[in-house]
Amino acid sequence: MMLELKDINVFIKASHILQNVNIEVGEKEVVCLIGRNGAGKTTTLRSIMGFLKPESGSIKFMGKEITEFFPHEIALLGIGFAPEESEIFADLTTLENIEIATWTRKTSRSAEERVRLAYSVFPPLERYKARKGTQISGGERKMLSIARALAMDPHMLLLDESFEGLSPAIIPQIAESIHEIAKMGHSILLAESNIYHVPDFTDRLYVIERGEIIFSGKPEGLMKDKAVLKIVAGAT
Ligand SMILES: Nc1ncnc2c1ncn2[C@@H]1O[C@H](COP(=O)(O)OP(=O)(O)OP(=O)(O)O)[C@@H](O)[C@H]1O
Ligand SMILES: [Mg+2]
Repeated sequence: MMLELKDINVFIKASHILQNVNIEVGEKEVVCLIGRNGAGKTTTLRSIMGFLKPESGSIKFMGKEITEFFPHEIALLGIGFAPEESEIFADLTTLENIEIATWTRKTSRSAEERVRLAYSVFPPLERYKARKGTQISGGERKMLSIARALAMDPHMLLLDESFEGLSPAIIPQIAESIHEIAKMGHSILLAESNIYHVPDFTDRLYVIERGEIIFSGKPEGLMKDKAVLKIVAGAT
């Protein structure tokens, strides 16, 4: 198992946000975490990255207990994170934003190769390589955030709402880029609030509602679960 969350309980101040959450992501697997706004998707990803500490339960990455690790340690183990708000470095150029990931985590792939790989997945970014982080569009920032996470040369990627706020024309393009990343052999955990954005190459999904996992299984199984569908899609 690549990633294993076992019965994690996470509090933000006095609020019990995640309740006994269990999630597994296998090697080379694409897993989607679906849930309405406020359901707990970002909290789950931030807990995996070590920005929030579970009150109980355990998080294992490639067999290693990482529950008490700091975010930078978790990143260095090989989890790339593209946060919901992209959070790219505004003062750096888009190229530097990608390169920075190659300085922090050293792998067998050279920095040049990793930058080349990121551009091969997101060709539009190469055209804007000299622009500052503030001089690109919201959709390009989403791409840059994923490209930066990919340039870490990670074993696994956590993507928080990669399709949020994108025009319908761009969504299939980004989905195709994520598919390419998956085909390179990276495991992917993708958080998504819009069930219609769940990529068709998703292997398994989890549905989270009010901090609890209420469904786990194959996409076909979710389509048959009318009660859960009503919660995430609004209608049956
Ligand atoms: N810093 C915070 N302080 C207090 N409550 C918080 C904080 N961050 C998140 N929460 C609460 O935790 C719950 C889960 O939030 P989270 O951001 O994980 O949801 P989400 O599924 O990512 O939603 P969205 O689709 O809107 O991004 C929500 O009820 C939210 O109000
Ligand atoms: Mg969120």
